[in-house]
Amino acid sequence: MSTHANKVVLAYSGGLDTSVAIGWIGEQTGKEVIAVAVDVGQGGEDLEVIRRRALDCGAVDAYVVDAREEFAADYCMPALKANGLYQGTYPLVSAISRPLIAKHLVKAARDFGADTVAHGCTGKGNDQVRFEVSITSMAPDMHCISPVRDLALTRDLAIDYAEKHRLPIETTKHNPFSIDQNLWGRAIETGYLEDLWNAPTKDVYSYTEDPTYPPLPDELIISFESGVPVAIDGRAVTPLEAVQEMNRRAGAQGVGRIDIIEDRLIGIKSREVYEAPGALALIEAHRALEAVTLERLQHRYKRQVEMTWSDLVYEAQWYSPLKRSLDAFIEDTQRHVTGEIRMVVHGGRATVNGRRSEVGLYDFNLATYDSGDTFDQSWSRGFIEIYGMPSRLAAAREIRTGGATGF
Ligand code: ARG
Repeated sequence: MSTHANKVVLAYSGGLDTSVAIGWIGEQTGKEVIAVAVDVGQGGEDLEVIRRRALDCGAVDAYVVDAREEFAADYCMPALKANGLYQGTYPLVSAISRPLIAKHLVKAARDFGADTVAHGCTGKGNDQVRFEVSITSMAPDMHCISPVRDLALTRDLAIDYAEKHRLPIETTKHNPFSIDQNLWGRAIETGYLEDLWNAPTKDVYSYTEDPTYPPLPDELIISFESGVPVAIDGRAVTPLEAVQEMNRRAGAQGVGRIDIIEDRLIGIKSREVYEAPGALALIEAHRALEAVTLERLQHRYKRQVEMTWSDLVYEAQWYSPLKRSLDAFIEDTQRHVTGEIRMVVHGGRATVNGRRSEVGLYDFNLATYDSGDTFDQSWSRGFIEIYGMPSRLAAAREIRTGGATGF
């Protein structure tokens, strides 16, 4: 194996920028480039085509990783257990894929003996932070570079370079948007969406159908075991299959479109459009099952943990000690999140209309207003007496001292 300092592992997408980056990094740094493409369910081109293209663009080696099962099981499922939503809305689509891609980049760097990892992010977004913090959290000695940010690889330069070197990549096809997509959803930004008043047009979407013209309602039953979907309509599914099927069925009903102004980690506000039909429908179902199975105080406390977890994951802390500690809490809460949720997806909404669990905390005999009631209502008098005592004492003091009681 040749000397470590002469190789760079590049996160390769197969697109124009990272194709040009292969040669550009070589010219600018004098190092050999190994291209690594990670499949997190983004669809699109055949992975073997992408691998060949990397070699044709000058990579000394190239390989592709089918990480879809791993992404579903170890990244999407934790996000589901955490009901992970940044700003209460965004299901962390790109934020959860970067740590996994980073893991495979580090693995490749170790295997090939590279001391540097490169990625195609700009210097203005969250993803550069997520890649680099994730990489150095696993490999503190690793160097990170971004050709766009650090080696002045602009879009115009990329087009000229690709044409001049006759790289096997389309340079004319102009996509008006910047898109990142994977199994958990799809993020669309830039273009005319940068004017906050402009409504998204039909061409923005691809995971979801127009919710204003829905087909007939689709009712489905999702079975969960310890917070993870294990069957849909009685048919056993892996985490990957669960998300795929929910993407298809909820997507057909226009579920999961989001249009928000997002606070980026680096301080910029940006307009973001997302579509995450499977993720949002699953989170809705998972929350409904937690409402039946989590103890009241644990349920309430978990909501705070969920918010912190989502902020951490958004802010590039996937591999941080605090995130790991919160994962342990969340995992513990999921022990009894087992049961079934019935939901209807229709017209852009996923609505839960039934739930059952062998290990739920709902007690019909305590809750019922019909005969068979086992709750002794006389207990409540004494409970309220004691429960209201602190406020009663404080109100009496206000009256004694001439203050206001709010009346
Ligand atoms: N703003 C989102 C995030 O930070 C999505 C970024 C996705 N990247 C893109 N090129 N559209 O997670």
